[in-house]
Amino acid sequence: MILNMNKWYNRKKRLEQLEKHVSVTRTARFGFNFCAESDKIHRVNRHFDTIATRYDLMNTILSAGIHYAWKRKAIETLMIKPKHRVLDVCGGTGDMAGLSASITGEKGLSVVYDINRKMIRQGEKKSLKGVTFVQGDAECLSFPDDSFDSISIGFGIRNVTHLETGFKEIFRVLKKGGTMCCLEFSKPDNTIFRYLYDLYSFKVMPLIGGLITGSKEAYTAFPESIRAFPLPGELSLILQKIGFKEIKIKKLTNGIAVIHSGRK
Ligand SMILES: C[S@@+](CC[C@H](N)C(=O)[O-])C[C@H]1O[C@@H](n2cnc3c(N)ncnc32)[C@H](O)[C@@H]1O
Repeated sequence: MILNMNKWYNRKKRLEQLEKHVSVTRTARFGFNFCAESDKIHRVNRHFDTIATRYDLMNTILSAGIHYAWKRKAIETLMIKPKHRVLDVCGGTGDMAGLSASITGEKGLSVVYDINRKMIRQGEKKSLKGVTFVQGDAECLSFPDDSFDSISIGFGIRNVTHLETGFKEIFRVLKKGGTMCCLEFSKPDNTIFRYLYDLYSFKVMPLIGGLITGSKEAYTAFPESIRAFPLPGELSLILQKIGFKEIKIKKLTNGIAVIHSGRK
């Protein structure tokens, strides 16, 4: 039996994710559905409240542990040095900030910035050496201009209501010459692989998510939001418009995940 799994959005619909569309319609995407622009942040927060205690376990099960390798590769693009100040926006339970802290050392700084208290609490429990947690909204980072040598954002920008505002904030608090990386899910290149990935995403993921976190819905909106998100070429244009230079795209695992890196 061949199932029709083609749920990947076309360019027009993918760009509905962008600020212009959000501010004109006063609606924002939550998975395949729309919600009020002002409500998205609360829905995202409720989503992470539901899954926070099982978030790390779910990542490891659903990606068969590959997410650790992806995060390592993303942090490598930042070219962090000892004593550097590094920020991880939408940093959740601190995996990427932990990797950065292992390079910045005692004289450096590695900060997780996340809006969800429960995700932060889970991260704090991991006692990651050299990592500091700050709670706040990625759309208004609570740091002065030009504060950090490097900034990462991993699997976070999809959740931010005004995508460009999130990147503008990253640009603002990054030092001139500083490096940025954005790790995000995307569309696999190979058609057969994509079909199998779709099958896995829409049939298996919600089942496992339901069993482990008790919320099948949380893992239904997740694959949907990936299919509605701008593709790498589209995202790099947005970064370019904001002012990032030397933008590079690195596809991982046939394009399931993509790293955009750049410099201020
Ligand atoms: C999918 S998790 C990624 C966590 C971590 N970066 C990782 O890769 O494991 C997304 C995180 O973004 C956070 N988040 C969502 N919207 C946010 C916002 N507007 N400001 C700050 N954090 C936000 C969530 O609370 C959640 O911890």
